[in-house]
Amino acid sequence: MTDWNPAQYLRFGGERLRPALDLMTRIQLDSPETVYDLGCGTGTITGILKERWPESKVTGVDSSASMLERTRDVETGVYWQHADLNDWRPDSPADVVYTNAALHWLDNHEQLFPRLMGVVKPGGVLAVQMPENFSAPSHTSIADTVREGAWRERLAPFQREQPVSEPSFYYDMLSPLSSSIDMWETTYMHILEGEDPVVEWTKGTMLRPLLDNLSPEEGEEFVASYTKKVAKAYPRRANGKTVLPFKRLFIVAVK
Ligand SMILES: C[S@@+](CC[C@H](N)C(=O)[O-])C[C@H]1O[C@@H](n2cnc3c(N)ncnc32)[C@H](O)[C@@H]1O
Repeated sequence: MTDWNPAQYLRFGGERLRPALDLMTRIQLDSPETVYDLGCGTGTITGILKERWPESKVTGVDSSASMLERTRDVETGVYWQHADLNDWRPDSPADVVYTNAALHWLDNHEQLFPRLMGVVKPGGVLAVQMPENFSAPSHTSIADTVREGAWRERLAPFQREQPVSEPSFYYDMLSPLSSSIDMWETTYMHILEGEDPVVEWTKGTMLRPLLDNLSPEEGEEFVASYTKKVAKAYPRRANGKTVLPFKRLFIVAVK
């Protein structure tokens, strides 16, 4: 089974933190009793949720043992649960179900979102951030590289070409279940440093399940071909840095 590489993911920890904080600041609750961070990864943001609400019972949930391993570095007082969100249920309804950059890894959003809203208390909040840049060259170049190689059929099941639907899909689904909904999109201009930083970025996320299913030689060939495409789409600026525009969708639904 393929797993996450926390070190690769954390290489851009600073850039990845901002959308998580932008989502958190839109949750207007002073003292929730129970807070869940679904797909908490290395737990950095779970720790910040605990800092924001020190009196709350805050639990980070993730299916990756190697990501959860890194939660040891996070402040104490947070509970951790090793569980698959596809069949996760809390013991009792929650005040906040927060999930940053995770639900695009799950299918069947038409069932998942109502199920998550179902575990929120009346007056509680479901807060979700998901990437929305699957039509950007950083991602379409992955699909192009898959299609070009002998690995095409082998990799097809591991590709996630359009895992996030239009905002109106989420609005139509959640509005009958909510007393209010705040939704917005933001395109972040990530200013990245170093050699082929867009490739390094996607190696920590979308490329991971694909490379895990290639031999080392095939992996090198795949990355070389992908790197060429990406370098054209995201040229280095005169100061040596690379700008990666990255669109994200935010949903804060109050029950
Ligand atoms: C991109 S990381 C985001 C981590 C963290 N929320 C953050 O913003 O830094 C996605 C996380 O979702 C987790 N994940 C993906 N599918 C999952 C599932 N079915 N059940 C539980 N966690 C899952 C992965 O293990 C990974 O840690």
